[in-house]
Order: sequence, then structure tokens, then C-alpha cells
Amino acid sequence: MFVILCKGYAELSQQSAGIVAAAIRKRPDLRLGLATGTTPLGMYRELARMHREEGLDFSRVVTFNLDEYLGLAADHPQSAHAFMQNEFFKHVNVAPGNIHIPDGTPSGDLDEYCAMYEAIIQRAGGIDVQILGIGRNGHIGFNEPSSSLASRTRIKTLTRQTLEDNRRLFQESQAIPEAAVTMGIGTILDARKILLLASATSKAAALARSIEGPVTAHVTASALQLHRDVTILADEQAAAELSEREYYSDPA
Ligand code: GLP
Repeated sequence: MFVILCKGYAELSQQSAGIVAAAIRKRPDLRLGLATGTTPLGMYRELARMHREEGLDFSRVVTFNLDEYLGLAADHPQSAHAFMQNEFFKHVNVAPGNIHIPDGTPSGDLDEYCAMYEAIIQRAGGIDVQILGIGRNGHIGFNEPSSSLASRTRIKTLTRQTLEDNRRLFQESQAIPEAAVTMGIGTILDARKILLLASATSKAAALARSIEGPVTAHVTASALQLHRDVTILADEQAAAELSEREYYSDPA
């Protein structure tokens, strides 16, 4: 794993956007896996700026989001659909037909729907670059502790901690969905390149366990140790509990 220690959130956002932009310039029809959450917001802003000011072209990029709350329709303000629209898609030129986000209210059989999401990714040729954040318990996507490291897109029940963490994004009167449709760890590990972004002290313990701890379904980001092309961008706060910080920042 390639660990990049960033001076702060702005640098983390710029560096991650730079990596994504370089991948799009190299391959204009890049199949890009995307994440919700506050961490990638700066990266999305920087990519939007590059689109506006530098002509970064998303017209042939195909996107696949990691997850969606079960029970939230696309027009629900707290859905991943609404988040992606407001924070990214409306600021760039991804073709609407190229956007894929799991449906939180699929009609019919849920297992069949999840298998179909996997099939769409496969038919597109697989994900070239997958963006990830990390939860306080080390989850990626909504792959909570105990997720099989071979899991595919499916429904996953959220932990109490995740529900608490996400409460701030919902109004007090609104019920928070207790489950989500999420790509599995196996789905994520199939991506050709993975970029994990971690910012803030609240992520320090999870990040250290993911990078330096054992591979375990209890901390699902630790499964990334099994992937051959993972880049982790962490700001100083998120990197605070890494024991090999000096080694990671060695320019050689
Ligand atoms: C949710 C999402 C994850 C995200 C995590 C951290 O659980 N499913 O994909 O990485 O939150 O979010 P934040 O970046 O807001 O801390």
C-alpha cells in the first residue's frame, strides 16, 4: 500500500483530485467508483474546479457509487443520489446515463437487484479507480464489521455507531435508515486501483488498524492489504496513530 501523508485537508483534496484527473486524462472513458461522506467533498470541489477552469472532461466517464440507504428514494434529501447530485454531478459533465448509484427502493427481489448492480459493473468492464472513505469502525462502503471479505453487493444492517455518526446528516424528526445496499468487499477489491481518503482525528484509530493491523472482517478496510494497487491519502490528524509515519513520508 502506498500511504501519502498530507499536511491538511486541502492538500488531501488536491492530491486525490489530481490522481483522479490524471486517470481521466489517460483514459477518458474511465470507470470511476465514487463514495459519499464528508471526506471526499474537497476532492469533488477540486474536480469541479478542474472541469470549469481546466476543461477536465467527464463526458465519457462512467460512475458507480458504493452504496445507498435502504428505503430512501433518489429524491430524498439524505440519499446518496441527492448527495452526489448536489456535491458533484451538477458541477461537472458526467452524462446522466453513465451514472450508477444503487437504488434504495428497488422494486422486486432485493437479491436480484443487488446481482444486477454487480452485473452492470461487470458489463462496463469493471471499475478502474475506486474512491473510498472510511468509517470510525474501519468500514468501507457500508461493509460493517463481520462483512465477508468476499462479499458482493448486498443489503447490510448498519451498526449503532454508524447510525450515530450519520445522525448529524438527518433532521431530528427524520428516521435514519438502519440498512443499506452496499458494494461488498469482494466488489471493491475487484477495482483495478483504489484510493482511500481519511481525514480528522476521529478516523485515526480505524486507519491505523486498517493499514497496520491484521486483515480482519472486524475492520473491513484492512482487506485492502490484499489489493495490489491501493493509495491511502491521510491528513495529519487521521495519520496520528500510524506507527510507521516516518517510513511512509520518506521521499526515497
Ligand atoms: C458512510 C459511507 C462511507 C463513508 C463513511 C465516512 O458510512 N457509507 O462510504 O466513507 O460514511 O463518512 P465521512 O467521510 O463523512 O466521515
